[in-house]
Amino acid sequence: MSRAAPALVVVAAGSGTRLGAPVRKALVELGGVPLVLHTLRRVLAWPAVGEVVLVVHPSDRATLGALVAGLPRGVHLVDGGARRQDSVAAGVAALPETVDVVLVHDAARPFVPIDRLDALADAARDAGCALLAVPVSDTIKRARGDAHARVDATVPRHDLWAAQTPQAFRRAELLALLAQAAREGREVTDEAGLFESAGRAVHLVEGSRLNFKVTTPDDLALAEALLASERTFPSRAAESD
Ligand code: CTP
Ligand code: MG
Repeated sequence: MSRAAPALVVVAAGSGTRLGAPVRKALVELGGVPLVLHTLRRVLAWPAVGEVVLVVHPSDRATLGALVAGLPRGVHLVDGGARRQDSVAAGVAALPETVDVVLVHDAARPFVPIDRLDALADAARDAGCALLAVPVSDTIKRARGDAHARVDATVPRHDLWAAQTPQAFRRAELLALLAQAAREGREVTDEAGLFESAGRAVHLVEGSRLNFKVTTPDDLALAEALLASERTFPSRAAESD
């Protein structure tokens, strides 16, 4: 039997509190186009992609349904939950059982490097879990105190990596670990953490610094500038546009 293509779950159900825009983050416009549409257009240009699920806030379902109807391929909409891990669980549960490997990606990372995704999917197929990440380049200080934090120490950074998405998993194992976390009332900031706490190997695949997450208004300004530079110098853009 032929192997199912890697599936993709894009989570877009968050509120975008730190961005502070009048609409949820997925619908904030970047160069006149909603953020989530930039992300979907890029990631759908990955030639190997199979089933695609977009996890949305129930109030955005109609708007996003109309937006994805204009995409070159079918995208299945699913309602998300209160926490990111609930949204991921809803998206992964919607995939058919024939799916072996699933990539989970933040809608808030529009500059996803699709040239890294074959290696990422292969690593997850072999090991169970892999994620894109970049080596930390800043000097990292550990601080205490909130308002006028004082430095306690400089943290050695030679072995530190900043986690990104997509994170890729063997679907059945991710579903089982998400269900276990739900039963135990455990919260995680990323799903790779579930594999780590289960003692499973998690592989790093080098991502790209351009694959940053639009979190604050500064990030949005940076994303606008990057998009404008890609439009001026198309050779710098990801293969998708
Ligand atoms: N996400 C989701 N469901 C949630 C929370 C987050 O689908 N309940 C998604 C977001 O839409 C985003 C990704 O997870 O694409 C990464 O989360 P984050 O950057 O934290 O987005 P928000 O939670 O929307 O932002 P904030 O934390 O500032 O409110
Ligand atoms: Mg959040």
